[in-house]
Amino acid sequence: MEIIYAQDNLSLGQMAARWVAREILVCPHLVLGLPTGSTPIGMYHYLTRLAQEGIISFSQVRTFNLDEYVGLAADHPQSYAFFMREHFWSKVDLPNGNVNIPRGDVSNLAEECRRYDDALQRVGGIDVQILGLGPNGHIGFNEPSHNMEIHTHVVDLTAATIQANRRFFPDSEAVPRQAVTMGVGSIMQAQKILLLVSGESKRDILTKTINGPVSTEVPSSILQLHADITVLTDIKLNRR
Ligand code: F6R
Repeated sequence: MEIIYAQDNLSLGQMAARWVAREILVCPHLVLGLPTGSTPIGMYHYLTRLAQEGIISFSQVRTFNLDEYVGLAADHPQSYAFFMREHFWSKVDLPNGNVNIPRGDVSNLAEECRRYDDALQRVGGIDVQILGLGPNGHIGFNEPSHNMEIHTHVVDLTAATIQANRRFFPDSEAVPRQAVTMGVGSIMQAQKILLLVSGESKRDILTKTINGPVSTEVPSSILQLHADITVLTDIKLNRR
C-alpha cells in the first residue's frame, strides 16, 4: 500500500486528478471505476479542467460507477447518475455510450445486477478503480457484514449509512434504504486502485483500513490484500 499525503482537500482533488490523468495518458482507452460522494468532487473538477484544456481526453475512456440508490431514477436530484452528470459526464468529452452506472429504478434488480456484471466482464474488468471511504469502512456500498459479495448486488444500507446520507434528503423517510453496488470481487480485480480519504472524521476508519485486521466488519480492510493500491489522503497518520 502506497500512501500519499495531500496538504488539504483542495490539493487532494488536484493530486487525484493528476494521478488519473497520467493513467489516461498512458492508456487512452482506460476502463475507469468511479465513485460519487463529497470526497471526489475536487477530482472531477480538476479532471474537467484538464480535459477542457486539451491535456487529456475521455473520448476513448469507458467508465463504470460503483453504485446507485434503489428506487431513484437517473433524473432524481439525489441519484448518483444525476451527481455524475452534474459534476463530470456533462463537462467532458466522454461519449454517452461509454458511461455505465447501475440502475436503481428497474423492477427486476437481480437482472440489472447481472447486466452490470456482464458489461464489466465484456470490457475485461476495471483497469483503474477510484474509491471513496465510507465512515463505516464501506467501499462502493459494500457495507460491514458477516460476508462479502463478489458480484454486483442489492444491499440493505446500514443505519449508519442511512444516517450519513440523511443530509442530502428533505427528511429521513426519503433516504433510500437499499442500493445496487458493484461487489468487492469486481473492485479487487481492478489492476490499480486509488483510495481517496479526506477529513479528520475518517481518521479512525482510515487507520483500521490500513493497519487493522482484514475483516468483513471493515470492508475497506480487504484493500490491504490488493497488489497495487495507493491511498491519497489529507489525514496525517502515525504509521505502525
Ligand atoms: C459512493 C461510494 C461510497 C462513498 C463513501 C464516502 O459512490 O462508493 O462508498 O465513496 O460513502 O462518501 P464521501 O466521499 O461523501 O465521504
